Amino acid sequence: MNMDYDKITQIRKSVNIVDIISEYIPLEQRGRNYFAVCPFHDDHNPSMSISPEKQIYTCFVCGAHGNVFNFIMDYEGVPFYEALKRIADKVGILIDTPKRVNTKPTKIDSIYDIYDIANKYYQNNLYTKEGKEALEYLRNRNFDDDIIKTFGVGLSGKNLLTEVLKKKKYSEDTLVKSGISSSTDGKVHDTFINRIMFPLCDLEGKVVGFSGRIYNSESQSKYVNSKESDIFKKGYLLYNYHRAKEECRKEKSVIVVEGFMDVIALHMVGIRNVVATMGTAITKEQAKLLKRLSLNIILCFDGDAAGNKATSACAKELDEIGVYPKVIRLPDKLDPDEFLKKYGVDKFKEYLDNPKSILDYKIDEYKKETNFSDSESISKYIKNVVLELQNINDSIIREITINKLSNETNISVPTINGMLKKNKVVRKEKESKNVIYNKYEKAEMRLIFYMIRNSEVMRIYKKNKCYFPDQEYRYLVNEIVYYYDKHDNVNIADFITYLSDKEELLSVFNKIDVMDIPEEYSYDEIMDYINLLNDYSVKEQIKKLTEKFKTETDEIKKLEIANEIQELKVRV
Ligand code: CTP
Ligand code: MN
Repeated sequence: MNMDYDKITQIRKSVNIVDIISEYIPLEQRGRNYFAVCPFHDDHNPSMSISPEKQIYTCFVCGAHGNVFNFIMDYEGVPFYEALKRIADKVGILIDTPKRVNTKPTKIDSIYDIYDIANKYYQNNLYTKEGKEALEYLRNRNFDDDIIKTFGVGLSGKNLLTEVLKKKKYSEDTLVKSGISSSTDGKVHDTFINRIMFPLCDLEGKVVGFSGRIYNSESQSKYVNSKESDIFKKGYLLYNYHRAKEECRKEKSVIVVEGFMDVIALHMVGIRNVVATMGTAITKEQAKLLKRLSLNIILCFDGDAAGNKATSACAKELDEIGVYPKVIRLPDKLDPDEFLKKYGVDKFKEYLDNPKSILDYKIDEYKKETNFSDSESISKYIKNVVLELQNINDSIIREITINKLSNETNISVPTINGMLKKNKVVRKEKESKNVIYNKYEKAEMRLIFYMIRNSEVMRIYKKNKCYFPDQEYRYLVNEIVYYYDKHDNVNIADFITYLSDKEELLSVFNKIDVMDIPEEYSYDEIMDYINLLNDYSVKEQIKKLTEKFKTETDEIKKLEIANEIQELKVRV
């Protein structure tokens, strides 16, 4: 870290952690603190508390803990410096960018620039004479100028962009690497020729790729995408993520569709908490992005068989990170865009208001495969549903489903229940581990807990001194003492920053700091801890000396050791 500590503290103090976190997740005030559903684990209750007094957040279930910078780092997946910079920018504090060894633009910088230039070029092109037909195509699909602008729609022309970029001194090599140009038989030319261009953006909204659609021919493939580059990884982004972010928070849900045309069509009718996977199977990273947008995820893939497959695959990926989406299946094999054209937005909203649970969706799928006049097929159907039910903890949902299943198949409820029990894997409760600490460790942890909160406790400790038997706590206390010596105002939020490059100590500290310990202490209590730890170290010394005594052969030395032990024994 080459920033100075005081500056970091100044930046941290310039914002209230409550305001910043509330930009990401909804908060609820209860007493002095705020509470939220923790975004760092599969949380269903508000387990995260945010303390305006201490300027830290703590999740009592997963142990997530830190100051405003840690929150941004973990939530956005950015490094410390980036989190710091975001806050600094927000409040208008200037910070020095870390010095680069060479000042030439990096490879990545120039790819961003190339995409920026291309984006402007394409958008401009659409409104030239050359764009007449493309614009007409877009008008037919209800694109007005606002929508065109919002989504940055453009037109790639007749292979002129590569020349434009070369004049701006980009080498052919860089242009091909960026994906904007391609090379055929040694000749470098535009990758996209005569297609309607849709910019694809990263999570922040920077253009990192394009998808080009044909509009006046049938022969070629419908869409051509930029190839993957250093800045464009399709599996790491979702179409419309940066625009939908706010809207998803407001609506408390996110709708997932396959195509970006579906996103745009829904946007046109005012439904804007929508992102698209862009046709490929959803990746782990995309699943995590969805979870970031909302825990209430609604899958609305195309109504055809491929959409069905995508739904199951997506649900499976989300399941792995503990999220259970809801499902909408559109009729007549329609995609959302076609559905809106055929049935209108009100009908779509009806679907939206009644999504299926993933369980019901899966059961419906199994049902479709079942031949109810074939006993083997029925048996398979029941087994499949029973398997699904094993993952369901809600006993009411289980009972409803079993009753339905029994009615459909004429198999009695007890028989189905029997299958469920027989198969039931005893699942280990994920209850938070109740670690039992011995009394010495407890004393160490409590001293640390109070020490960082109260300078008075630090004073008592310094006056009386005691030995922390566990090395990790000992090191941590050394840091706290040092920190007190160097700073007039000691608080947890800044101490966390101070510890940030001592990862192990930070995690020890976090473990202690999230413990459910009353904030109030008494002088006697602190002295009890100190005395207990002193006792411990004396006892340890006695133990060691006793061992030594046993193995010592020199009689005089033996006597000395015995004396030493005697002296120590007086102290405990
Ligand atoms: N896709 C692609 N390449 C293709 C076809 C599709 O990359 N040859 C991706 C695109 O990102 C597209 C998504 O898959 O947005 C969904 O494809 P599809 O359903 O075929 O497209 P639509 O959204 O229906 O587009 P349109 O209405 O323009 O036909
Ligand atoms: Mn479509």
